[in-house]
Amino acid sequence: MDLEKANALIQQYEAAFSHGVGIPPGETLYTGVDLGTSYIVLSVVDGSGKPVGGAKCFAKVVKDGLVVDYIGAVEIVKSLKNELEGRLGCSLKKAGVAYPPGISREEQMVFVHIAEAAGFEVEKRVDEPTAANQVLDIKRGAIVDIGGGTTGLAVLEKGKVIYTADEPTGGEHFSLVLAGAFKIPFMEAEKLKTRPAKQRELLPLVKPVMQKVATIIKNHLKTFKVDVLYLVGGSSCFAGIEDVIAKELEVKVLKPKNPLLVTPLGIALSVKGKGD
Ligand SMILES: Nc1ncnc2c1ncn2[C@@H]1O[C@H](COP(=O)(O)OP(=O)(O)OP(=O)(O)O)[C@@H](O)[C@H]1O
Ligand SMILES: [Mg+2]
Repeated sequence: MDLEKANALIQQYEAAFSHGVGIPPGETLYTGVDLGTSYIVLSVVDGSGKPVGGAKCFAKVVKDGLVVDYIGAVEIVKSLKNELEGRLGCSLKKAGVAYPPGISREEQMVFVHIAEAAGFEVEKRVDEPTAANQVLDIKRGAIVDIGGGTTGLAVLEKGKVIYTADEPTGGEHFSLVLAGAFKIPFMEAEKLKTRPAKQRELLPLVKPVMQKVATIIKNHLKTFKVDVLYLVGGSSCFAGIEDVIAKELEVKVLKPKNPLLVTPLGIALSVKGKGD
């Protein structure tokens, strides 16, 4: 695993959220559609796997890994697709979707149908940790995805996912604690939480939720020998969460740049390398 390489790719993707990239005529593009509890994120890579576009929207259309607002999800994916097509100057067709580990095939197909209803041709359906590993390229260790509603984890051996789990507890719970502590609305707590300058000061308040996340990870990893944990998902952006988890689990914890973008980018890369 080469963290520098993964970070360079993530930074390229991050830049593609705001900078227009010239797409040569005839270039094949691949789109990843990530439908999360907190965000819907679209990622676009070109035929060489270079990130060329990204767009995201805060949305409440998924709960605990399941779609609860189908129409709302389709509308948002459609509008993000339009936005990206406008910015890139070409249409987007080939796409992939990711699903949280452990949901049924029928439930996975809901994610496919949403992307299709928004105008995509879905060529790939991949579980979230396998998508994240398209960016991280881990041979051995565990990926922990601390999202908005849930914490997902995957154990990898020889580059393949051999165990997955997904349990409620994520960023929403951090925000609920802060909303209660400061007597402010949930959305205000969401904003407050993402201000880097505030996070050291807020850490003691949300630390018990981070410890709960660590306990979930610990329970699932009991029977595996894992030396390194890789943190992804938006809630892993919180400064210091890596230290809390490392202390609770007594393992090495690594965090890529902008962990929120790892899984979405990995979905687009999974479509590009469909055979994987
Ligand atoms: N800079 C930041 N610092 C702390 N938390 C952040 C930051 N940016 C985003 N978050 C939090 O990350 C969460 C969203 O992360 P992510 O997009 O990975 O989740 P999701 O995929 O929507 O949810 P899930 O995977 O649980 O379905 C939200 O709770 C959000 O408040
Ligand atoms: Mg997610």
